[in-house]
Amino acid sequence: QIVILDFGSQYTQLLARRIREMNVLAEVIGFHHTKAELQAKYPNLKGIILSGGPASVYEEENYTIDPNLLDGQIPVLGICYGLQLITHLHNGKVEPAAKQEFGKAQLFLDVPSNKLFKNVPDGKLVWMSHADHISVLPKNYIQTAHSDNSVAAIKHNEFEIYGIQFHAETTHSEFGEQMIKNFVFDIVQAQKDWYINKFIDSAIAEIKNKVGNDKVILGLSGGVDSSVAATLISKAIGKQLICIFVDTGLLRQNEGLQVMETYTKNFDMKIKMVDASAKFYKALKGIEEPETKRKLIGKLFIDVFTEEARKLSGDAKWLAQGTIYPDVIESSKEGHVSKTIKSHHNVGGLPEDLGFELLEPLRDLFKDEVRNVGRELGIPSLMIDRHPFPGPGLGIRVIGEVTKEKCDILRKADAIFINALRENNLYNKVSQAHVVLLPIKTVGVMGDNRTYEFVVGLRAVNTIDFMTATSSHLPWEFLDSVVNKIINEVKGVNRVVYDITSKPPGTIEWE
Ligand code: XMP
Repeated sequence: QIVILDFGSQYTQLLARRIREMNVLAEVIGFHHTKAELQAKYPNLKGIILSGGPASVYEEENYTIDPNLLDGQIPVLGICYGLQLITHLHNGKVEPAAKQEFGKAQLFLDVPSNKLFKNVPDGKLVWMSHADHISVLPKNYIQTAHSDNSVAAIKHNEFEIYGIQFHAETTHSEFGEQMIKNFVFDIVQAQKDWYINKFIDSAIAEIKNKVGNDKVILGLSGGVDSSVAATLISKAIGKQLICIFVDTGLLRQNEGLQVMETYTKNFDMKIKMVDASAKFYKALKGIEEPETKRKLIGKLFIDVFTEEARKLSGDAKWLAQGTIYPDVIESSKEGHVSKTIKSHHNVGGLPEDLGFELLEPLRDLFKDEVRNVGRELGIPSLMIDRHPFPGPGLGIRVIGEVTKEKCDILRKADAIFINALRENNLYNKVSQAHVVLLPIKTVGVMGDNRTYEFVVGLRAVNTIDFMTATSSHLPWEFLDSVVNKIINEVKGVNRVVYDITSKPPGTIEWE
């Protein structure tokens, strides 16, 4: 097992995923853990990676590690800030660079025989992103590679301690994956033992063992995480699992039906459907401000769910959630205060004091691993390969005040867009697509008559991590046909626009 000590780099999770794709378990953890703590927590610890991050070693003394981690007993790879920290802790010098390096740089190997460079040719491109650089090498280290402007790699004379200034984990680094492989298999000598099948078997055994004969309840949203969690748990304990599916009235067309059919028919699950739509529409009446809507929807969802759960709580001891690894990592991030752009609500965001014990079988998995588990369990692609859908649902896609009538209009328009994407083999080529309904009416002409109806906006984006995104370049003819179909078939809409704003400065949702 490999542990990544996180200093807040935007690439940390990517790095963990890269290693897991090599069938080796990698975990991300805060940087402050001592060597003894890490060894107690991970008895099978074989290697440590120090991530990059925005700090400077000469400015922020607190962003450091237990020096015992560099005693040579465990192989270490420092990336970017990690390399600078090793340098700083081992009596080298790190300073602001006269020439910063952001973007691609050529990597010239000074010691091509270095284990990290096995099968890596000289002069290949790597991805740099640093303002500081090494000005004096740490004691007992040699420089193993350089770029035009910096020391690009170092290695301890004796110990298996390596540092690289570039980000080998990004695809922009041409032989980056090879270097990570070299660290994982040649230096750490990790075993390949992280497989989805094995995960499923051990998760099922663990669920059975934990839960025994008790009952478990789970809030099913139709999203990937809660669906996979439900399916996995139901494989383990069958009808001891009771799912609650809340229809908020803010779901997409036929969504409730689809979820019920898929999981009751294919997986024989026990699902309790609660129609709370009237409650939601009532609560949303007259409310326009996005954050107020988000909070209100989140709170009402919790209330409805809690009420249903309490009805079952005589029986049930466990509350299962589809919490996944990025949720766990984000909530334990130290030292990074980010501004709230939107208060996210999802079914996983239930309060902890509901009086149940928590069952979270997907806690250790990244999203793509969760999808693989779902596929392996036989959940249809229609459910597994869906675009993300926000917890507040159509509540934040009807801009301004939400009413049932507006939701119905939006559902129809959205279904036309999404079905057209599927029919034209475009659905899997975009990361997320949806329609929003604007709170304004415009004038149009249909036949010989004046119309005065709503405007809808089509949104389609491509992104890897949903933190940044670009609008999808959908074919003009395709957009043309979608616009036609919406105007012809959706009563109440007479104008359609396509949003080409990227994120930032826009966000993916409009609210
Ligand atoms: P934004 O609009 O912030 O969205 O660019 C980024 C991604 O997050 C989804 N999103 C949410 N997901 N609860 C969720 O579970 C929420 O409250 C929420 N708000 C936005 C959005 O659909 C996109 O995939």
